[in-house]
Amino acid sequence: MRSLVVFYSRTGNAKFVADNVASDLGADTEEVTDIKNRRGWLGFLKAVYDATRGKETTIEKTKKSPRDYDLIVIGTPVWNSRITPAIRTYLKENNLSEMKIAIFPQVKEEVAKKLLQL
Ligand SMILES: Cc1cc2nc3c(=O)[nH]c(=O)nc-3n(C[C@H](O)[C@H](O)[C@H](O)COP(=O)(O)O)c2cc1C
Repeated sequence: MRSLVVFYSRTGNAKFVADNVASDLGADTEEVTDIKNRRGWLGFLKAVYDATRGKETTIEKTKKSPRDYDLIVIGTPVWNSRITPAIRTYLKENNLSEMKIAIFPQVKEEVAKKLLQL
């Protein structure tokens, strides 16, 4: 089975998980790059605003065609309980209907512990 791990990462956590998932699955990876500057406090505030409004963004042209794969694994940080604008945009620009999809949302440590009841 050919698998593709598509991810967006602002500070590296989702990238770390994506690289490990890809290595375990023997999958290819596609990092989605947001053209908008998300660094610093202003970037953080804009990120909260854009995610909360369900906004899309501009992403760099991606290299791989998801239709060449049997499984798409999507990794995204959670921003204010929502997916990131970069992944929202990727999903709009790529028709994944009828495809097998898995998603790993990347959350704060305390949220992850609560979810896993640790
Ligand atoms: C703008 C913004 C909003 C966030 N909102 C949430 C949230 O609602 N819930 C949560 O658990 N974590 C939230 N986080 C934390 C990130 O999801 C978490 O740190 C994630 O691991 C970051 O992934 P990255 O390093 O790949 O960017 C938020 C982080 C940012 C920057």
